[in-house]
Amino acid sequence: MAKDGEKSGWKEYIWNPRTREFLGRTASSWGLILLFYVVFYIFLAGLFTLTMYVMLQTLDDHKPTWQDRLSTPGMVIRPKAGEYFEIIYNTENTESWDMYTQTLDKFLAPYNSSEQALKNDECTPDQYFQQEDSGSVKNNPKRSCQFNRTILEDCSGIHDRYYGYQSGKPCIIIKLNRVIGMLPGKDGQAPFVTCGAKREDSEKIGELMYFPPNGTFNLMYYPYYGKKAQVNYSQPLVAVKFLNITQNEDVNIECKINANNIPLGSERDKFAGRVSFKLRINTK
Ligand SMILES: *[C@@H]1O[C@H](CO)[C@@H](O)[C@H](O)[C@H]1NC(C)=O
Ligand SMILES: *[C@@H]1O[C@H](CO)[C@@H](O)[C@H](O)[C@H]1NC(C)=O
Ligand SMILES: *[C@@H]1O[C@H](CO)[C@@H](O)[C@H](O)[C@H]1NC(C)=O
Ligand SMILES: *[C@@H]1O[C@H](CO)[C@@H](O)[C@H](O)[C@H]1NC(C)=O
Ligand SMILES: *[C@@H]1O[C@H](CO)[C@@H](O)[C@H](O)[C@H]1NC(C)=O
Repeated sequence: MAKDGEKSGWKEYIWNPRTREFLGRTASSWGLILLFYVVFYIFLAGLFTLTMYVMLQTLDDHKPTWQDRLSTPGMVIRPKAGEYFEIIYNTENTESWDMYTQTLDKFLAPYNSSEQALKNDECTPDQYFQQEDSGSVKNNPKRSCQFNRTILEDCSGIHDRYYGYQSGKPCIIIKLNRVIGMLPGKDGQAPFVTCGAKREDSEKIGELMYFPPNGTFNLMYYPYYGKKAQVNYSQPLVAVKFLNITQNEDVNIECKINANNIPLGSERDKFAGRVSFKLRINTK
């Protein structure tokens, strides 16, 4: 009996025909609650939109409002040295180095002279290519300087389409990550890349050759104004060719950027301005 009473009590709670209440409230009460929430959410959405709108008004499309004062840009190499930062292949096995040369082909395609001539300007070397805005008048879009892959000579993939991989004298291509507004070098001295072996491998690295000569990033490619302002920007590259690296052994290599105004690896990021990888060329 008690059970029955409980049951009808529940039933009545859900729908009480006497008072015409659903879950303890009348239709108009429910209606008011619904109305309150609809108005409340519309108000919230409006507030959000307004705040967003005001925020976006204060942003400049062409320049980050806040930029980390990153004085040391990161450095990357191509071909990508994989998860373990290793480039390992066997000169006897085409398949083992094929992917590296293909990566370089793809990476360098935008640096084809024809592409560059179409997109970019021939700039005056050895000086910054500055295109400042005059006050609030934007000087956009900004032009960029040509970097023809021919500059990389033996590592351009033009004369030697295998970038030396086949002959055991491979090329590595290095670029600096883009930093908006960075003016590397001082007093007209361009930043340059140097590579060396970790101490225990210093006998094994052999002679290196840099392209362009001395491994410099010409000043004319700086400053960089950002993706939106400088749509056709081509990052300058430096190629390093290993002319006589010891084969069948691991060689640990580190390349770094040298510029009289770029501090190497700050406290915060020990890897800024340098890149390490292992190179191993097998011949048997
Ligand atoms: C330019 O790039 C294409 C691939 O995008 C390639 O097939 C062609 O050989 C390149 N030309 C030169 C002159 O390097
Ligand atoms: C890049 O190549 C194009 C086409 O060959 C040439 O006209 C231009 O002068 C070259 N640019 C530079 C900076 O060498
Ligand atoms: C970017 O390159 C295109 C060709 O791909 C060219 O028509 C355009 O003028 C270039 N823009 C700038 C700002 O250099
Ligand atoms: C390379 O560096 C050496 C010594 O620092 C200098 O004498 C030479 O002119 C440089 N070459 C180029 C092409 O910048
Ligand atoms: C290449 O390196 C080996 C030592 O690893 C050395 O004996 C040889 O003379 C070097 N060859 C050239 C051309 O420098």
